[in-house]
Amino acid sequence: MTQTITVIRGDGIGPEIMDATLHVLDSMNLGLQYEFADAGLVALEKHGELLPQATLDSIRKNRIALKSPLTTPVGEGFSSINVELRKRFDLYANVRPAKSFPNTKSRFADGVDLITVRENTEGAYIGEGQALSEDGETAVLTQKVTRRGSERIVRYAFELARRTGRKKVTVVHKANILKSTSGLFLKTARAVAAEYPDIECNEMIVDNTCMQLVMRPEQFDIIVTTNLFGDIISDLCAGLVGGLGLAPGANIGADAAIFEAVHGTAPDIAGQGKANPCALLLGAAQMLDHLGECEKAERLRAAIVATLEAKDSLTPDLGGTGNTMSFAKAIASRI
Ligand code: NAI
Repeated sequence: MTQTITVIRGDGIGPEIMDATLHVLDSMNLGLQYEFADAGLVALEKHGELLPQATLDSIRKNRIALKSPLTTPVGEGFSSINVELRKRFDLYANVRPAKSFPNTKSRFADGVDLITVRENTEGAYIGEGQALSEDGETAVLTQKVTRRGSERIVRYAFELARRTGRKKVTVVHKANILKSTSGLFLKTARAVAAEYPDIECNEMIVDNTCMQLVMRPEQFDIIVTTNLFGDIISDLCAGLVGGLGLAPGANIGADAAIFEAVHGTAPDIAGQGKANPCALLLGAAQMLDHLGECEKAERLRAAIVATLEAKDSLTPDLGGTGNTMSFAKAIASRI
């Protein structure tokens, strides 16, 4: 494989977990070339803007980026750099796997292995039409859902099921109350599902889904849903399998894809070598899948599992006394 990827080292614990992740990727001799680009606080300090044009150009050229978490300072341009990146590159599919891992603090020792596929570009989360009345008593927000947006995300979920040998897609909605927006999403999902008779499809209302996830998470395989529901559900799923330190996410569009950890910059532990690199490493595994290197992605995941099983050099959030780089080295040694 010869592939150049844009690497954004990010803020807070970002540089530490990125160094650890690149150490592991380098140990796999993948033939990846890195083009480093700035975003977030670092970019603001160096270039005077949060998301420099050179970074956007790099992502556009390479089409693949591996990104550490970023700080969006309050009152500086965008509401979120991540939301801005999703908008700029039309990264419509937010794909968040949640899988039980050994020796992690979780209410569910095993049995969770699901993927949330969240629509990333529409709905209430985008914040369209936000307004507060002059007297500060009334706030409004527009929630836009389109057939095109619904169709492409549901199709993505079914294609993902086929590609990965998964058997079931659960369409999560609130069409009983949000009859226009969730209603259009559900109607469109039913039409797409009819084209995939080989994949089981069921429908579930979002509040029930939250309860079911806590009571019987093993019933889920792939969940597909709209933006705000997906945001909340995917963090719930991260909580089922031991927290944000193990939760990766991919933002995928037709022309570009950005792979990341779900967690933030963790300012409380930044610079201390305490950060768990697994979420970003698992994001890198998603990137390898996306590049068609599925066998290498599996080797990387297996090395993470083996290191967790051996309790070798685990970071403090997992109950260990290791540090970010010693954990990464332990993982690299098992590939
Ligand atoms: P956070 O995810 O940074 O931290 C929440 C808690 O989890 C903290 O106690 C932290 O120490 C811990 N934690 C997070 N990642 C960890 C890791 N890899 N290993 C060990 N412990 C870890 O969330 P918070 O504090 O709400 O946000 C901090 C900053 O991050 C904010 O500026 C926010 O805007 C930004 N953020 C950026 C994201 C991104 O770029 N994708 C996503 C979420 C937040």
